[in-house]
Amino acid sequence: MDSYDGCDGKETKKNLRALRASVVKTIFGRGSLMSLRCINPNCAASFELHQRLLACSLCGELLEVQVEAPAILPTDLKALWLERRCSFDPRDASGVWRFREFLPNGYDEIVTMAEGNNALVAGRKSADWAGLRNLRFKHLGWNPTACFKDLGMTVGVTEAVHVGAKVVGCASTGNTAASLAAYAARAGLKARVYLPSGQISNNKLAQALDFGAEVVHVAGNFDAALDRILAHANNGLYFLNSINPFRLEGQKTVMFEILEQLGWQPPDYVIVPGGNLGNSSAFGKGLDELLAAGLIDRLPRMVIVQAEGANPLARMWRSGERELRPIDTPETAATAIRIGNPRSWKKALRAIEHTNGFALDVSDAEIAEAKAVIGRDGIGCEPASATTLAALRKLREQGKIDRDASVAAILTGHALKDTDFILRSQQHEPALQGEWQVCMR
Ligand code: F0G
Repeated sequence: MDSYDGCDGKETKKNLRALRASVVKTIFGRGSLMSLRCINPNCAASFELHQRLLACSLCGELLEVQVEAPAILPTDLKALWLERRCSFDPRDASGVWRFREFLPNGYDEIVTMAEGNNALVAGRKSADWAGLRNLRFKHLGWNPTACFKDLGMTVGVTEAVHVGAKVVGCASTGNTAASLAAYAARAGLKARVYLPSGQISNNKLAQALDFGAEVVHVAGNFDAALDRILAHANNGLYFLNSINPFRLEGQKTVMFEILEQLGWQPPDYVIVPGGNLGNSSAFGKGLDELLAAGLIDRLPRMVIVQAEGANPLARMWRSGERELRPIDTPETAATAIRIGNPRSWKKALRAIEHTNGFALDVSDAEIAEAKAVIGRDGIGCEPASATTLAALRKLREQGKIDRDASVAAILTGHALKDTDFILRSQQHEPALQGEWQVCMR
């Protein structure tokens, strides 16, 4: 773990050094103004920040961290965050904690592995394939455990340590488990992961084992595994699925970073895969906070993409209903998002409504094709991530996105997260093989 004491960043500009000192004192001092708030507008109950609460104790709805925007000019904040990229202080080296003015506070130590600071890369073949001129990928697969989950786990496990947890756990389609196991190992905590038996990628299972997690194989799908662990969540196990509001705080910083990389000019669209809908919820919250603090002057439209066989949000959006109908037996080869009962759907719905966005779905065949194209750009990603490019092509074909629109597509996991998928879909695919042979000549 990285202690704050004795961390002396290499600051360069004097005025920013003074600002930095005052900010650190304010942000990490005790007696913060942050709290947990119920997301039900009719309840809106407020709770002390560092409680082991999974849901509102009054109405049962999900909670979120209520952030008080710092009293610092947006221009100064932007300069401070950029300056931290030159610092070796562990808090600054993290692309999450670099934005700590908007994160939960009161910690003596943080559990970090320099997560974040991920590239925003263009992919010419992908853009051509989708029919776009201004497409960039934010590759969150380029994180310590090769997935965006690390951005949430650094905050979630830091909080777990802070509240004195000894065992942390989650249900998972694989990536959350790998990330939780890694961060728990760093913090000296025991990790227990509940996995849908035989339904996740071996690569992810191998990571969880490598990091020393105890694995519980659950008969049934992710939703069943989540129900199973929730039944144990009060028995001393600190629960780290994305209904844990601290996880989402870390994940929201992706929006801060993308905006910084784009010179604080919002793209027209942010496209993100949706499974349990924690990530899209986090992004929506981050965008709302950036706008409220005057760091941006408009919101990008958020588009959430699901796989056709695991599409409860996309179905709800199409139907115009306001209540999510879970899918009992979700099916998709993109196993990361094979989820029928996403717990954060209300937060995700709020995110697309606030940003004038929408939800849609794509077929497994479209995902496989898009994934291969991203690979041919030398980027690579896991199947769930490729829903983004598949959706963009579909939206262009339907004339719903302009060719010149600026788009940030979120790649959530690394290509090596599911190597079986690549071998299965590409070794026997004549069209793709032909292209490969041409390249080899
Ligand atoms: N992409 C990848 C690679 C994922 O692993 C996940 C979720 C998602 C997208 C969807 O994110 O759930 O926040 O909407 N994986 C979880 C897990 C469920 O257990 O690893 P979400």
